[in-house]
Order: sequence, then structure tokens, then C-alpha cells
Amino acid sequence: MDRGGRRGFSRGASSRGGGMGRGTGRRGGAFDRPAARGGGGFKPNSDWRRNGAATSGGTYRGRGGPSRGGRRGGAARGRGGFGGGGGGAGGAQGRSFKGGSRVLVEPHRFPGVFIVRGKEDAMCTRNLLPGDTVYGEKRVSVESVDSKSGEKSKIEYRIWNPFRSKMAAAILGGIERFPIEPGSKVLYLGAASGTTVSHVSDIVGANGVVYAVEFSHRSGRDLVTLAQRRPNIVPIIEDARYPARYRMLVPMVDTIFADVAQPDQARILAMNAAYFLKTGGYFMISIKASCVDSTAAPAAVFASEVENLQKERFRPLEQLTLEPYERDHAVVIGSYRTAAKS
Ligand SMILES: C[S@@+](CC[C@H](N)C(=O)[O-])C[C@H]1O[C@@H](n2cnc3c(N)ncnc32)[C@H](O)[C@@H]1O
Repeated sequence: MDRGGRRGFSRGASSRGGGMGRGTGRRGGAFDRPAARGGGGFKPNSDWRRNGAATSGGTYRGRGGPSRGGRRGGAARGRGGFGGGGGGAGGAQGRSFKGGSRVLVEPHRFPGVFIVRGKEDAMCTRNLLPGDTVYGEKRVSVESVDSKSGEKSKIEYRIWNPFRSKMAAAILGGIERFPIEPGSKVLYLGAASGTTVSHVSDIVGANGVVYAVEFSHRSGRDLVTLAQRRPNIVPIIEDARYPARYRMLVPMVDTIFADVAQPDQARILAMNAAYFLKTGGYFMISIKASCVDSTAAPAAVFASEVENLQKERFRPLEQLTLEPYERDHAVVIGSYRTAAKS
């Protein structure tokens, strides 16, 4: 790994049609400068980097910043959007984004992901269900004018908090490939209440589907409620260790995203890939080192998980740790059943 152990594997561009590697090719510096990446230079609020929790101006009170005492924010202000509060699925209303009087939304180089620029910049996805919030996240509306008819309409975006979503953290951290795009079919393992699933639902849009697997019935209830509002989410309340149990619900998919935080997560991913991932499809796995081996150094855990993936016909292409958003976590992204370049 280079960059102090933060990034690993090849840095070559992906060739998957239009979905990844689009854009300038401008690549990032160190993790403390995520501003230079993405949709032309996203500059997150400096408070994110300093302590993971904002002190003013309505920024994220996210979870788990690197210099905080604990892993999570306090209960009263720790989850949800800006300025405290927030709520669970279907809970608090999102409040307006404090981007100043004028905000501009630009496409990120990954299709389906956007950057809202204003007084504070933030990453966001286009809300599939305008007016609706999922976890108390902020929303921002911008007016769009149809170039032909001149008709004006509003487009709504939902702010995507990297302290609450490892997928968002990976994008902001500067991954080179993001194997999810509008129209994708995604199998999502470890959906929880649907925080990140909801953003994947925004990204894949009406022509894509997210098959969201979660074995906790408590989280599953929120997930089912979410799927009732969002028709492109198929909630599957099952143990991801037994993909045969849901084989009737899931077709072959383009991408599997795994965030189950289990010691045998590579095996869980492999079992699901054997059933559902198309040849040449992509995987993205979030690895929490302490879940796999709490006694080993995180870098050693990541390396051994990569070896496990390779044994299962996965071809890891990229690895990135998730600081400053998550400590001792890495994501690995790669392809399935593709030959390694000689
Ligand atoms: C880290 S959380 C996922 C957070 C979620 N991906 C997000 O970003 O909003 C891990 C989730 O995986 C679920 N999980 C763990 N093992 C599982 C299994 N074998 N099958 C299905 N879900 C599992 C847990 O119940 C938990 O909700």
C-alpha cells in the first residue's frame, strides 16, 4: 500500500461502460485533502476533518471522527443531519441545507453522485422521492430550467454524510472506481435500517434495483418501511450466510456491496457472488479490522482478507482505508471471475 498504508493495488482506470473512471482523472493527495477529488474538487467542511462533529453553522454531527473520544456521537446530537437532532428512518424532517443563499449542485465524476456547493460543500444524491427524508438528513433544492421548453422545475438532493456511510466515506476518500451507477442492479449485504441503501436507491434510480439483505428484524422493520416508499428497494430479511434462502428474489446483479461486519465476511460475500454476481461484475466490501481479528494490526487483517478474496475468484483492484471518517476500516473494490492482467 502506498500513502502511508492508506491505498492499495493498481491505480488503473476501470473500463466498465461509462460508470467508473469517468472524469478528469485528477487523483487525490493524502486523506486530509479530499477536497481535490471527485466532482472537480469537493471541499468538505473543515470540521469533518478536525473532529467529526460540527460546532456551528449547521454542519454534520456525524459519527466517529478520528479525534473524538468515542466511536459515536452522543445520543442527543450524534446522528442525523446538521445542527443536532435527526432521527431514525421515517423520523425527523430534513432541514434546509445551510449552503448560503446560493447553492450550486455539480455532478461528481461518479454518475448519480453530486456535490452541492455553497457556504459549505457536501456530497449528495438526487432524491428519488422529493420531500422525503430517511434518517433526518438535510435536503437541498435547486431550480432547473429545461433547455428546450424553458420550463422551470425543482430538483431535490439529499446530503450524504460520510460519518454515517462507509460508502460515502470511500467516495470522499478518493476511490478510483465506484461500481454503482444509474440503472445498476445491486445486492447490498448488511443493509441495517437503510441509511446507505437509501442513497444507493437514489443513485441507481428508477431503472435500477437494490436488493437489501439484513438479518436483524429490528433494523429490518425500518428497511421494509423504507422499501414501501421506494419501489427500487427489495428488502430481504434474511441471514446473508444462506443465499439459497433468497435466491428466488434476487437475479444476477452487476455489483455486490458487503457491509456485514462479520469475521467471515469474505466467505459471505463469496457465497452470494457464486449465486448472484455476474461474471465480470464488481464487488465492494467494507472491512472492519476488529470484527475480523481484534488482536492483529488492521493492515495485517486487510491483507489477509484480500488474500481470502483472491482465493474466491475475486480480483481486488483497489483498497482504501476510511480515515478520517472511520477508524481501522478499509474498503476493497474489485471484479469477479476476471483474469488478472499479466
Ligand atoms: C455496519 S452495519 C451496516 C450499516 C449499513 N451498511 C449502512 O451503511 O447504513 C452491519 C449490518 O449487517 C447486519 N448483518 C450482520 N451479519 C449479517 C448477516 N449474516 N446477514 C445479514 N445481515 C447481517 C447487521 O445486523 C448490521 O445491521
